[in-house]
Amino acid sequence: MTSRHLIDLAQPVAILLVAVLHFTEDHEDPWAIVNCCKDLMAPGSYLVISHVTADHIAPRAARQAQAVYADASAPGVARTREQIALFFAGLDMVPPGLVNVSEWRPAHIGPPPGPAVFYAGIGRKKAPGGPGEIHPQHAGPQDEAACWQEAARQRA
Ligand SMILES: C[S@@+](CC[C@H](N)C(=O)[O-])C[C@H]1O[C@@H](n2cnc3c(N)ncnc32)[C@H](O)[C@@H]1O
Repeated sequence: MTSRHLIDLAQPVAILLVAVLHFTEDHEDPWAIVNCCKDLMAPGSYLVISHVTADHIAPRAARQAQAVYADASAPGVARTREQIALFFAGLDMVPPGLVNVSEWRPAHIGPPPGPAVFYAGIGRKKAPGGPGEIHPQHAGPQDEAACWQEAARQRA
């Protein structure tokens, strides 16, 4: 049983990469991995990402936080807002955009959030025929296997 038996990728889906991508290092090219996901998902699909940032903390504190993960099974990689925004390239951002996770449609009005430690955003894959139109024939990228192989090759 594979995910293909459970998820119909010809239909719009939501891909949740929530607190995941900061466990990949730049040399693994997480952007290439996310590009494969974007190719694979049908128009009208959503990509959700939250990601740790060190944009607003002192470099020393950022290094200490990274050191905590030095002996863990996966590294902790803080990225800038600009680097995280690249994951959404080609998608339409859902308001309020790529912002401090605390600013993502809070259920109640509270004190203003502190500086962002996590950014979060949601992007929607454009429909080829115009706004809101879902393409019924989508069947994934032309060559899905090649996309993953290329992403893996870049990680090697
Ligand atoms: C902080 S948890 C977030 C889990 C879930 N997305 C959530 O928000 O509750 C981080 C997840 O990233 C996964 N993870 C860590 N390194 C990964 C990697 N290199 N590739 C894929 N997943 C990874 C872990 O297994 C874990 O499930």
